[in-house]
Amino acid sequence: MEETAKKVMLSGIQPSGELTLGSYLGAIRNWAELADQFDCYYFMADLHTLTARQVPAELRKRTLNQLAQYIACGLDPEKNTLFIQSHVRQHTELGWILSCYTMFGELSRMTQFKDKSAKNADNINGGLFTYPCLMAADILLYQPDFVPVGQDQKQHVELTRDVATRFNNLYGETFKIPEPYIPKVGARVMSLTSPENKMSKSDHDQNGCVYLMDEPEVIMRKFKRAVTDSDTEKCVRFDVENKPGVSNLMQIYAACTGKDYAAIEAEFDGLGYGAFKPKVGEAVVETLRPLREESLRIMQDKAYLESVYKAGAEKASYVANKTMRKVKKKIGLVAEP
Ligand code: TYM
Repeated sequence: MEETAKKVMLSGIQPSGELTLGSYLGAIRNWAELADQFDCYYFMADLHTLTARQVPAELRKRTLNQLAQYIACGLDPEKNTLFIQSHVRQHTELGWILSCYTMFGELSRMTQFKDKSAKNADNINGGLFTYPCLMAADILLYQPDFVPVGQDQKQHVELTRDVATRFNNLYGETFKIPEPYIPKVGARVMSLTSPENKMSKSDHDQNGCVYLMDEPEVIMRKFKRAVTDSDTEKCVRFDVENKPGVSNLMQIYAACTGKDYAAIEAEFDGLGYGAFKPKVGEAVVETLRPLREESLRIMQDKAYLESVYKAGAEKASYVANKTMRKVKKKIGLVAEP
């Protein structure tokens, strides 16, 4: 297998809703720190959003806004390859091929499929079921060493490893087997109103979810209303099982301030939840403020955004095509003239 000097990282986010504090702390923030050390590919997973009905004009707008937000979050397009998934045809091409090497039983066991089909019983389409095959293609095309994701995507990365291993066993070394790369703090940010569920852009309760582009007053309101726990103790202590609401707020505060849980417990010792919640809100406001301002600025510059996604797609297609040629040859497809 070809060796490049730097190890490769790759990840994506669906533009199915606005970016959330969860996708920022669980994913993007960690990506920005990796640019010097790794060869990094990040994309807007627009094809994945089609498993649910989208309003076309909104999807287009959100995809471009997401690119602006990636850049505002510190993903320098000079150092990272930033592209739109649907601009690199090899994703759907390899997605189909991999679906022929992924078992019905494996796809049936995916918790995201089970959750989403329970929530959208009237639209359990084939794409929702084979979603992990497209995700495996997204990953394997670039031969990455690591895939930085939040906890909820770990199962999909594990399935990708299984499918790649199966393919390699049949045809010889073709794909690098990637590792999930999960952050220590922020890997699973929970809803502010129902801390047993992850904070999600598809959440119907808008108060539980903080968006990257929320205005400071909105963020403060959401944190002041955040659910804390009904235990009698009323103190700020990290205990996910018995105090999921407070523990989630502590996790967010830790991720935004860099303080560890012991320091946070000491800071709020004897102060109760009423003092704690606005402090978490303020820390989030200050973390997101520069990102929001910079995103708004970049979103206006359509020509710049186009130059970024065009260059990104060219670089990504070049790499993806190399893998695709190898795959087609191995499975017996006639080479294109
Ligand atoms: P998506 O769009 O749901 O989420 C994008 C990334 O954000 C992380 N994340 C969270 N992390 C912590 N707490 C949360 N509440 C939270 N919500 C979201 C997710 O774990 C993810 O890393 N299938 C993927 C997109 C995708 C992809 C890929 C990712 C498509 N192809 C290839 C990696 C590699 C998804 O729906 O993520």
